[in-house]
Amino acid sequence: MAHVFVTGAAGFIGSHTVDRLLKEGHRVTGADNFRTGRRENLTVALASPRFTLLELDVAREGGLAAAVTVARPDALIHLAALVSVQESMRDLGLNFDLNVRATHLAAEAARAAGTGRIVFASSAAIYGDVASLPVREEAAKLPISPYGAAKLASEALLLGHGVAFGLTVRCQRYFNVFGPRQDPASPYSGVISIFARRYRERKAVTVYGDGSQTRDFISVHDVARANVLAATRPDIRSGAANICTGRATSLLDVLSVFRRHHPEAPPPVFGEARAGDILHSRGSAAVAAAELGFQSEVPVEEGLAELIRLG
Ligand code: UD1
Repeated sequence: MAHVFVTGAAGFIGSHTVDRLLKEGHRVTGADNFRTGRRENLTVALASPRFTLLELDVAREGGLAAAVTVARPDALIHLAALVSVQESMRDLGLNFDLNVRATHLAAEAARAAGTGRIVFASSAAIYGDVASLPVREEAAKLPISPYGAAKLASEALLLGHGVAFGLTVRCQRYFNVFGPRQDPASPYSGVISIFARRYRERKAVTVYGDGSQTRDFISVHDVARANVLAATRPDIRSGAANICTGRATSLLDVLSVFRRHHPEAPPPVFGEARAGDILHSRGSAAVAAAELGFQSEVPVEEGLAELIRLG
């Protein structure tokens, strides 16, 4: 059994990661300031005697270091972040504080507490507009948003820190994650969370473009498993890996699953393609397989069915 400290524990990916760690028998200390995380996401976890929840702002100087020093975990999974690309464009300072400075504080906290490993929530956004698919880890990294830039800067900070101070650092480059507990609040939320809410409310969804665009949609359950592997698998080396399925799913494919489950729903409305939208995105899953022993297991169709079932 390992003891793992998770920042952003009440968030979408954080809460599923906590659930998975507990399911595998580990001890977990979770931290969240509930800025975007929700206590309800941890309902199952809070019933476990192996889970401790701290209300904590990881971007506040000293707060995380004190908590990690007391907890003395074997690994730190740093998921607390500003997660909206659009918000990163509106508020550059907040993006820097929550995505770069908080990562620096997490690295410092791990060093102060003698934590052996850090797992970091990176993103496919570090690649920017990619020239060829599938995107491999060594592809050019030319982020096109402050969010992507902050994630790339954080990777560099952590990997350098790992070499200097002898920590294992794993950067997890998530592709399009979907599943229960994802917040559909803004028009820029993940498309599947938006579609799930609209279908539930029997409202028409809007498809920007003709629906032929593809993404590498990955279930949050797979992402949680990848995080647990990165945090607990013995004998792994520092590095960065795409966390993806390696498969492309079009919006039309996604829609056909929703329509099958909601035959009564109004038909989708097709609108103008979104400015700046990329047509296709798909990752190479080879490095995660080789370095973490991770392969996605949840077919997109099954993940969608689960989301629809949970209502
Ligand atoms: C992701 C980011 C987005 C960012 C972009 C930069 C997320 C959730 N989104 O977008 O903020 O600007 O990378 O490359 O991380 N769509 C619809 N109808 C909707 C919502 C979306 O058709 O109601 C379409 C989008 O236009 C897009 C596709 O669905 O073509 C996927 O959208 P989204 O889930 O936002 O993911 P990304 O496009 O990868």
